[in-house]
Amino acid sequence: MKIFSGTSNEPLAKKIAEGLRLTLSPLEIHVFPDGEKRIRVLDEVVEENCIVIQSTSPNVNENYIELFFIVDALKRSGAKSVIAVIPYLGYQRQDHVFREGEAVSIEVMIKTLQASGVDKIITFDLHSIKIPEFFAIPIAHLSALPLFAEKIRVISEEGALSGASPILISPDMGGIRRIKLLSELLGDMPYASIEKDRNLKTGEIKIKNIHVAPNINLKGRFAFIVDDMIASGGTIDKAVNFLKKKGLAKVWIFATHAIFAENAKLILKKIKAEKIYVTNSVFIPKEKQFPKLQILSIARIVIENL
Ligand code: R5P
Repeated sequence: MKIFSGTSNEPLAKKIAEGLRLTLSPLEIHVFPDGEKRIRVLDEVVEENCIVIQSTSPNVNENYIELFFIVDALKRSGAKSVIAVIPYLGYQRQDHVFREGEAVSIEVMIKTLQASGVDKIITFDLHSIKIPEFFAIPIAHLSALPLFAEKIRVISEEGALSGASPILISPDMGGIRRIKLLSELLGDMPYASIEKDRNLKTGEIKIKNIHVAPNINLKGRFAFIVDDMIASGGTIDKAVNFLKKKGLAKVWIFATHAIFAENAKLILKKIKAEKIYVTNSVFIPKEKQFPKLQILSIARIVIENL
């Protein structure tokens, strides 16, 4: 088995390689002055099973192109099979036509990925469970929820000592399946879902309501907001303010993919939450990190599923 990394998340690729007692195989990735890339495999891969680690996080287009070329280069060099570990699959939020005339971008990316010759995909916490249906090749859709459950269990046990009950919160109705799964992992911990509305043209977010079982009082509880990703930080920011107004005592945030686009750091630094837990599915450079941020590693989960 040989393991290769694109340029988007080499620290995660190194962790996975170390866990497999391998070292990353070398690739030559040359960028021409006009931005085109040339990829060359610098290892012997004939009849080898190869793994490529590449998150298609920002810069999404660059990272996808690089991945297509790495897979093509491996196949042309004689690789027996190529597994693409794409911890964050870019364009996943464009999984259907929201407004007449739009492209279904994720479907185009998946078709291109398959055309490049990849044999299997490993990815994490997709925005919709429908996305695997776009693939004609095997896909392992993994989740960071077990990592989150471990942390939430410890924090809620501490809260119980001061009499605070826990509650899981989905910041939008689309996350209800995720929150139900997490509730099961945590022995049926109660949950609620915020009803959010996003203006498809401007991106503006408005919170409309919270759906919670009638016998549950939100006041004084420890809240665990769980989302698939933080991009601009807008959803999380609005959700935390809303919950604080509802009288929840403390809020923690859990999100698998730390996209941290635009001014996300400025928003997240000021958020009234105890801690923000994310994973290393997307590489977070030092300049995008802040004291409340905690990064959990998905390397072990990837290794267990190779
Ligand atoms: C939306 O449906 C997703 O689950 C996330 O809540 C959303 O994509 C986060 O984006 P942002 O941080 O830009 O609000």
